[in-house]
Amino acid sequence: MNIRYIDVTVIYENNIQFILSHRKKHLFFLKSNTFVGIYNTAMDKKLRFNSATIHGGQQPDKAYGAVMPPIYQTSTYAQTTLGGHQGYEYSRTHNPTRTALERSIASIENAKHGLAFASGMAAMDTVLKLFQPGDEIISTDDLYGGSYRLMTKIFQKYGLKIHFVNMENVENFTPLLNDKTRLIWIETPTNPMMKVVDILAITALGKTNNVLVAVDNTFASPYLQQPLDLGADIVMHSATKYLAGHSDTLIGLLAVNDDVLYEQLAFIQNSGGGVPGPMDCFLALRGIKTLHLRMQRHCENGAAVAIHLQDHPKIEKVYWPGFIDHPNHEVAKKQMKAFGGMLSFVPQGGDLATAKEILEKFQIFTLAESLGGVESLAGHPASMTHASIPKEIREQSGVVDGLIRLSIGIEDVQDLIEDLDQAIA
Ligand SMILES: Cc1ncc(COP(=O)(O)O)c(C=O)c1O
Repeated sequence: MNIRYIDVTVIYENNIQFILSHRKKHLFFLKSNTFVGIYNTAMDKKLRFNSATIHGGQQPDKAYGAVMPPIYQTSTYAQTTLGGHQGYEYSRTHNPTRTALERSIASIENAKHGLAFASGMAAMDTVLKLFQPGDEIISTDDLYGGSYRLMTKIFQKYGLKIHFVNMENVENFTPLLNDKTRLIWIETPTNPMMKVVDILAITALGKTNNVLVAVDNTFASPYLQQPLDLGADIVMHSATKYLAGHSDTLIGLLAVNDDVLYEQLAFIQNSGGGVPGPMDCFLALRGIKTLHLRMQRHCENGAAVAIHLQDHPKIEKVYWPGFIDHPNHEVAKKQMKAFGGMLSFVPQGGDLATAKEILEKFQIFTLAESLGGVESLAGHPASMTHASIPKEIREQSGVVDGLIRLSIGIEDVQDLIEDLDQAIA
């Protein structure tokens, strides 16, 4: 199909091709013989990021032109004749609200395809099911605890061999790469130590060795970095976090360019059925529309809090990739647009009792798991997100009992600083 205009939506319905011109507000219709689904020629790839969050892959609703995709709360779709459907047969396989979200993530990650899941873990689970017993995976050693648990407690049982390595130095891969290596799993910045992994250096290694590279882009969001543009094969999100952005839904996303890889992942998605409901897709889509505004403020507030804590006499160490002396600051500068709204710190002494006292004194920061919402959260990785990692292993990567992780929200930063000061005093 060759469409010359960038502002038209082409709809095939009952074998009639409708062309809706948004600019002229005209509805033309032409004859067509085959149903090919709904096309949106909106200039996805040409949109700048701050427009793609709003319009990328989107089109007015087919039925009534609703600007926001309706929540298609249906499990199935009427067929006029055997196989006579409009591209949707059963909601485990496809749902129009989910399609809108999948197109949105594809657009903002500069990807050809998007896939949505019931959670970030369901998205990762789908990626790991691409592999066979005996296949080997190299993963970063400073990893979200749930990802570590899924790899070690579930997939190792089915014969996948997982190596955990400090990815700050590409040379660490050399002894591990072999002809069974199938996947390199990157998380950057890492949770909770805020290490930054050089995506470009690792995707180059992946290409040389014919190994897929997947990036968990949850902490950065596509506002800060777009791993597919740096050569990654798969981008994964816990969209529960910055993408949805309001701590009101659990959802996971994947974005890929390769058609075959997409088909394989979509097959597992449909077979396993770990898909999100339409309401959750709607909430994630609505969140994405303000991602760029929220991320800008998360980054500004994150920088102000990090700098304030670094100078605080009762703080031993602050982990934030914006500091010049952060070991991967140069890599962060190269691959990220700014340094994000996540940071971790250790109070003087680094013991559990001090961390507990600070966490319990917060008035604006909420003591809670999760991150990336509009509200500031404080977490204790050793007992919360990373409790499933054995103490000696987590301490090797710096997750000591005194470590506190902050997800800096978009409140007035002065209120956040005052809350930190009163809690640390
Ligand atoms: C970096 C990272 N990846 C994956 C996940 C898992 O996502 P979900 O909770 O949506 O399953 C999380 C959750 O905290 C996370 O922080």
